[in-house]
Amino acid sequence: MNILILGSGGREHTFAYKISQSPKCNLLFVAPGNAGTEAIATNVPISVTDFKAIESCVIENNIEMVVVGPEDPLVQGITNYFSESERLKNVMIIGPSKEGALLEGSKERAKEFMFDHGIPTAAYQSFTKETVAKGKEFLETLNAPYVLKADGLAAGKGVLILNNIEEAKQELENMLTHAKFGEASATVVIEEFLDGIELSVFVLTDGKNYKVLPTAKDYKRIGEGDTGLNTGGMGAISPVPFVDEVLMKKIEERIVIPTVNGLIKENIDYKGFVFIGLIIVNNEPFVIEYNVRMGDPETEVVLPRIKTDLVAVLEATAKQTLNTIDLELDERAATTVMVVSGGYPEAYEKGKVISGIENIQDSIVFHAGTASKDGKVLSNGGRVIAITSLDIDYKKAIKKSYQNIEKLHFDTMYYRTDIGFDLL
Ligand code: AMP
Ligand code: GLY
Repeated sequence: MNILILGSGGREHTFAYKISQSPKCNLLFVAPGNAGTEAIATNVPISVTDFKAIESCVIENNIEMVVVGPEDPLVQGITNYFSESERLKNVMIIGPSKEGALLEGSKERAKEFMFDHGIPTAAYQSFTKETVAKGKEFLETLNAPYVLKADGLAAGKGVLILNNIEEAKQELENMLTHAKFGEASATVVIEEFLDGIELSVFVLTDGKNYKVLPTAKDYKRIGEGDTGLNTGGMGAISPVPFVDEVLMKKIEERIVIPTVNGLIKENIDYKGFVFIGLIIVNNEPFVIEYNVRMGDPETEVVLPRIKTDLVAVLEATAKQTLNTIDLELDERAATTVMVVSGGYPEAYEKGKVISGIENIQDSIVFHAGTASKDGKVLSNGGRVIAITSLDIDYKKAIKKSYQNIEKLHFDTMYYRTDIGFDLL
């Protein structure tokens, strides 16, 4: 079948890499894609939220399956757009409906969902412009640090963790009254701080059945030792070595099953990935967030560990037959290190020539922000290239990623040299 992937990052290149290996895939398109996807698929220069242009592309190219990479089109309702269109309703689309995507699109909605279905999460209350004073009173009842979350999508920047109560009250005011994150902070969720270790669990559901995919841990801060500004992710490791069977059983029973059952009970059309961000406090798992898509760079370590034909798995998701799929995993560990443009996540330059990609051996090069021009690969984003390696344990795998990164070069290139440091 012909398949279209929406997105342009390392996550989408990884999907393209796996899907292009499937005997079930005939022609593969990526919109808009990057220099990496261009080498294995046809890039189509359309935006992921231009539903009309996507519709034309699907019809013109006889596309039978669309895999949605990022959250924006899902929150804007691309799945509903397909199901409501005569011409598109039979096209398989991997990604939840708008109602399902609200689990990521609204932190308040996600918290309500968790409370309604008995899923462990931090205690919270939410506030608006009208209730700022009540919000400040609520802060007084909590202990530091204070966690403030903009309700809506804020490009990963909408969560503030503050140590000082006065600062927390001021930021609450900035978010609610002065629209610090625009419309996204018209409602703010204040929640209890959870002190523990973070990890992510990925689930694929067809709306009836589910498969738990490999766990992963990402490294969000720009600086060594998890310091400095938050980024989209500077590296990732899968599986997470400290997750044993006992913990995984708790996660599945207390979180994964109630989440999938909650979606079913609420009659939410959800055929896609659920990315569950967890904090483990004294060996007990709590949900800190849902995302309604795969993570980036977590995808770069999760998908390479799936041996089963990915197109068969996605087709079963669309047809609600995931129960017939036997998910076979690569037992090896996978690591990825993200190479970024100097200055990221603040201002950075694009258009730097990247050299040395062809010298990389025994690792997989996933392009994130790249473009090709006159036969050259240029940097075209903050996160530029992810180097993924597999080996018997994460220490051996990470060594390979770092040996290969040394062969890469572009002006201003930067990466963290300590991915996995906290697992030793
Ligand atoms: P989120 O966008 O909800 O994942 O939040 C961003 C980051 O803030 C998370 O990766 C955590 O490191 C941190 N965080 C969010 N909620 C909490 C919480 N309740 N307690 C402690 N840390 C949190
Ligand atoms: N790496 C975190 C995310 O994809 O949201």
